[in-house]
Amino acid sequence: MTNHPAENSLQLPPRLSLAQLPTPLQALDRLNQQIGGPRIWVKRDDLTGSVLSGNKVRKLEFSLAQAQAEGCDTVITCGGLQSNHCRATALLCAQLGLKCHLLLRGEPSGHPDGNLLLDHLAGAEIHCYPARQYQYQLTDLLRQWQQHYQDLGRRAFVIPTGASDGIGVWGYFEACRELKADFERANISPQHIVCATGSGGTQAGLTAGAHWYGLNAQVWGVNVCDDEAWFLNKVAADLADWHARYQLPVDAASLAVKVIDGYVGPGYAIAEQEIYKCIAQVAALEGLVLDPVYTGKAFFGMLQELRAGRFGDAGDIVFVHTGGVFGVFPHKQHFEF
Ligand SMILES: Cc1ncc(COP(=O)(O)O)c(C=O)c1O
Repeated sequence: MTNHPAENSLQLPPRLSLAQLPTPLQALDRLNQQIGGPRIWVKRDDLTGSVLSGNKVRKLEFSLAQAQAEGCDTVITCGGLQSNHCRATALLCAQLGLKCHLLLRGEPSGHPDGNLLLDHLAGAEIHCYPARQYQYQLTDLLRQWQQHYQDLGRRAFVIPTGASDGIGVWGYFEACRELKADFERANISPQHIVCATGSGGTQAGLTAGAHWYGLNAQVWGVNVCDDEAWFLNKVAADLADWHARYQLPVDAASLAVKVIDGYVGPGYAIAEQEIYKCIAQVAALEGLVLDPVYTGKAFFGMLQELRAGRFGDAGDIVFVHTGGVFGVFPHKQHFEF
């Protein structure tokens, strides 16, 4: 693995080169013809790798570099049974020769599918906890397992949910450097950048990076769980952690954090028929596969808001496709053809 050089005036922390970068920026011309309004572009971060696809790889370039810098031989992380983050972490740990231990929320039934299947293939150690226990005891469980490895003479690095903390913020902060070059190449100045937000780190990184790299665009997170207040708080906390860890010359507290609430539907990882329909339509029209947990809800929300005029007379708008394709398969019974 090679380390990226620190290229800008900010001193970047250690970083591994793990994602296939840069990812393409593509215009959805057929969809645009159908619906009119601003031209919709997609930043194809579903193409950061094959089984490694999605937003988590950008963050993990920094989190795993930090784990190595601290001399850790084990990585512990957590998420839902179908967590894209856990799958990417498990595969990357295998690639780097680190032990991966996943604490998952929920009780699996039947044969593992989607991301969980890949977690097993990657050789991760997996412990599943009932949702209530996970909700109330996660911090203790992470601490206990870390201690367990210490007692064995090993050193475990804990990555929080979604790698969303001050370290993970760098992933999408640096993605904005890439977006700046994309926009210059395409000769566009989008006024809005939209992403799904689930643990806040992607949105936090984009918000800080868009400001630092002068993109002149408002970043919007479409929340797929919880609500606007929760995400305003979480993104601010990730930015504050980022600022405090690295002593940065950025006024993180003054950044405009914006959430589009109203598209969670019945709950996290539960979607209504309109989301499955939207996924099927976009796949058939543009060859772009969204997922029912994150990007499908965010993309659907963006289209609804676009129709409702939230983005005004913007000429161009960018949707960051954060991946999640393996989450489609466990939902197969909900698609109607
Ligand atoms: C496919 C996909 N999109 C978006 C997100 C949201 O990113 P974040 O956790 O950084 O808010 C996640 C993870 O939560 C994800 O797996």
